[in-house]
Amino acid sequence: MPRPEKHLFVCTQSRPEDHPKGSCSARGGAPIIDAFRAELEARDLFGRFKASTSGCLGVCEQGPVVVVYPEGVMYGPVTAEDVKTIIDQHLLGGTPVEALKVPADVWD
Ligand code: FES
Repeated sequence: MPRPEKHLFVCTQSRPEDHPKGSCSARGGAPIIDAFRAELEARDLFGRFKASTSGCLGVCEQGPVVVVYPEGVMYGPVTAEDVKTIIDQHLLGGTPVEALKVPADVWD
């Protein structure tokens, strides 16, 4: 398998319903990875880009969260409608989608 140009991870972490952090699973992470995979397949882009699920990425309140490497750009909350935008602008265009990024102070 060739090395992908970019690799994105979609958090699908689940937690008990009453957990104070909530989870990307409860916020709709599974449909997001499905949408990325379907769109990449429809455009025959699997040879260039890879989409994987991940456990908690640490910013649960922003979920569902997506991170794109090698840049390490983190998006959230991502909706199914955002998937094509991220593919068009970031994966193919090389420019991260500023409006969909998690807040800059999320790690403070
Ligand atoms: S549960 Fe998704 S970032 Fe923590």
